[in-house]
Parts: sequence; C-alpha cells; structure tokens
Amino acid sequence: MAAPDVPAAEAPAADDPPQVRALRERVHALLPAARHDLEALVRVPGVSSSPEAAGAVEESAQAVAELLRGAGLPEVEVVRARCADGSPGAPAVLARRPAPAGAPTVLLYAHHDVQPPGRAEEWTSPPFEPQERGGRLYGRGTADDKAGVVAHVTALRALLPSWGPGEGVGVVVLVEGEEESGSPSLPDLLAAVGDRLAADVVVVADSDNWSVDRPSLTTSLRGLLELEVGVRTLDHPLHSGIYGGAVPDATTALTVLLARLWDDEGDLAVEGLVRTEAADLPRTEEELRADAGLLEGVALVGRGSLLSRTWTRPSATVVATDAVPLAQASNTLAASARAKLSVRLAPGQDVDDAERLVTEHLRSTVPFGARLDVRRLGSGRPFDGAAGRAGAADVVATADWALSTAWGGAPVAHQGMGGSIPVVAELLDVLPGATVLVTGVEDPDTRAHGVDESLSLRVLEGACTAEALLLARLAGDL
Ligand code: BES
Ligand code: MN
Ligand code: MN
Repeated sequence: MAAPDVPAAEAPAADDPPQVRALRERVHALLPAARHDLEALVRVPGVSSSPEAAGAVEESAQAVAELLRGAGLPEVEVVRARCADGSPGAPAVLARRPAPAGAPTVLLYAHHDVQPPGRAEEWTSPPFEPQERGGRLYGRGTADDKAGVVAHVTALRALLPSWGPGEGVGVVVLVEGEEESGSPSLPDLLAAVGDRLAADVVVVADSDNWSVDRPSLTTSLRGLLELEVGVRTLDHPLHSGIYGGAVPDATTALTVLLARLWDDEGDLAVEGLVRTEAADLPRTEEELRADAGLLEGVALVGRGSLLSRTWTRPSATVVATDAVPLAQASNTLAASARAKLSVRLAPGQDVDDAERLVTEHLRSTVPFGARLDVRRLGSGRPFDGAAGRAGAADVVATADWALSTAWGGAPVAHQGMGGSIPVVAELLDVLPGATVLVTGVEDPDTRAHGVDESLSLRVLEGACTAEALLLARLAGDL
C-alpha cells in the first residue's frame, strides 16, 4: 500500500556501498555499550515533576554529561536556568564540538527526565530495573527518552574518533531535564545559551515510528494546553438528603460541565479551533484498536479520518480530578471540585487563541450558574513541519536515506504525531533558518508514560545507525 508521501524503498542492505556497510558495522559493534549505558540511565529515577526526585534528576544530568564527555565532545557542561516564578529549573546538558570551516552544525536534542512510573505494582518488572523480554527493554524512560540520549551518544562514538581537526560536522547536543514537566525553565535557558545553539540542522530524537519495521520522520506535532477547571456551588458541604434535589453540588456541576466539552460522537465541541486533514496513510481501524488495546465493543470517538483525529484535530482529556475519594464518601453535596484538562492543539493553532476559545466554551456551558475558575497550568506550541524552510528538501532527503538504509531499505513514513514536543517551536524561534528533523525511538508498542514502557532493541539499533549515517553524510564522509 503506497501512500503519496512515502518514498519508495531504498536499495537493500546487502547492496550498501562499503563505507556505508563499514559504518553500520561500527555502530553494531557499539550496541553492547549503548545497551549498558541505557540500562544505567534507566536505573536513575529522574522524574522531573516530583520535587523529591531532584537529586535523581541531578544525577541523571551528570551521567549524561559523562557519556558525552566519553564520546569525545570537547565542551560539556551541565546548565541551569530559572522558571518564570524564579524557582530553579532542572539541569540540562549542553555539549559542543565547533564546526570546521565550511561544515554545517547539527544540534542533537533529547531529554533525560522521565514521567513518574504510575502504579509501580502493576509493572511486570520494576520500573527502574531494566529488563529485556522478547527483544524489548522494559523500564521507565527506556524509550522516552533515554534511548534518544543513547542514540546521540552512540552516533557520536561511531564518528568522532575518525574526525580529525577540520573534518566532520559541528555538533551541539542539548539534553533537557524537564521536558516531561512542560520545560518551565526552557525560555530562560534559551535566553542564556541560545547563542551557543546555532545550528543548520536540528535532530529531535523524541518521537515515534510507524512500526518496528518502518521508521518515521515526524512532520507535525500537536500543541498542548493544560487547564485547571474549578467549580464551586456552595459555601460549605451539605447533607444530600436534606438539600439534594433543589441545591446543586459541585461534583455533579463539574461532571456536567466536562461532558459538554464533547458532542454525541465524542468529538471536541469547542468551536473555532484549528482542525485540518491528515495525510492519507494506511492505518486501519483494526490496527488502531489493537495498538491501543481498546476493549471489544468500545467505540472510537471523534470525527474525520482516523489519523486526523490524533494528528491534526484538537482533542481534550480529563487527566485528573479533585473530588471526594470513594473511601471518604458520605451522602454529601460537595461545595467544590476541580479537574485538570489536557487539550491537544492542531498544528497551526495559536495557544492563546485556543485558551480563549476553550475558556469561552466552558463559561457558556457551565450548568446551574456555578462559579467557574479556569487557570492555565502549562502549554506548548504545536509544530507544523509542512511550513518548509530553506535548504530543508535536501536535508530531509538525506534523513530519508539514512533512516531507510538503517532499516534495511524500509520506506520512511512522513507522518504527523499526536504528542507534543514544545521545544521544537522554541528552538525554531532561536534558530529560524534551521531544518528540524523529528525522529525517535518509540514504536506503537512502547507505552510511553504508561505501565510496562519498553523500547524495541531493533529500533534502538536503527536509530543509532540512522543518526550516524545522517551525520556522516552531512559531513561529506559518505
Ligand atoms: N516524547 C514525548 C512526545 C511524543 C511522543 C511526541 C510520541 C510524538 C510521539 C514527550 O516526552 C512528551 O511526552 N511530551 C508531553 C508534553 C509535555 C509538555 C508534558 C506530551 O505530549 O504530553
Ligand atoms: Mn519524550
Ligand atoms: Mn514523554
């Protein structure tokens, strides 16, 4: 099934020219070290959203800095910046190799922090003790995004020793330590070190692949708007028998309010948001159901083509609620209740416009005249790679070649993704002329952020090989 923007397969691996084969073999020989270093990183529980884990995030940054030093980068530094409220941000790692005269500079991005493990007892093996099962490495951050860090390190290990002075490309590595908590100190960090990030090509290794057998270049990402929605109806809680039926409670009001965010088909009912059509790539409903683990009989929600629902149309999820827990239930009308709403924004959507539209929708649908409080908790801009940039076409062609060659000739899928990587838009502000290549180490089975997150070891090898091939070709070595 050929899709219009999926290039035809490259020559099979056996036909690779000798220099390409030699580099593939060099990367292959570096895989045991890559695996070892990845496991060591996974053992450090650097959960950036948890204040108690600050020490682990620090340790994680130092471990990444050590790997980059060991790979042969001459300048490596742990850098820190401040959040908008003045509190310290999480440590990032910045490493550099200056560009030889006339050579381009490539910025390699990943993040070393991780999401919390969730319910640790539900994991098949403990989240911070990496374990291989069936060709996959299980553990929090194995894929998102410690394998992204390791892919950069491995590509550099394969190339830096062979580059004398005046050879190779310039390299900047930026490994953030707070991506999973919305990068609160990133604006300050970019203001402080932005001049040291100058690059022609940016590789963001933090996305997904079409499948284990087929690599992707991510051409668009959704943005994110996180809102806290609070509802109050009463001055104090009341007996639900004495007052229920005449007096509205806050939990019910919040439930009704949230339900009004969607229409009968489960499509987001907020009007005026950007909604576009995704490229027509071959993903069937059966595949989506299987990848998602959707229970039999449960319907899909939303409107438009399947892929546009997750890539190019907005969606909203109630990710948390503050209401009375079951264990404390009594027959009471609650006075207040809150929810955290995570709204995904289509490529091209302005975040402030979206906040205004969603807030207006909530204000106009709040039931019973309940008091409504809407507060922005965080946000990230979408990425629309279709916007095109000078020089991009040949860099993208080189990336296609590198990915396809690394995957033994498989065609590269140019595809949107529904997740968010706010740093992409931020980096493009600082580097307006750069071409951004969003690659990744995830696949549809990765379960990033979930229980039993895992990395396909074949994808790890593909990602390391592709990045080495890309850098070598940009350096004019191949
Ligand atoms: N790596 C993900 C984003 C991602 C995953 C993009 C798969 C495309 C495909 C990243 O670490 C992430 O989880 N981002 C957050 C946003 C952030 C502001 C908390 C997200 O998407 O929820
Ligand atoms: Mn990530
Ligand atoms: Mn993530």
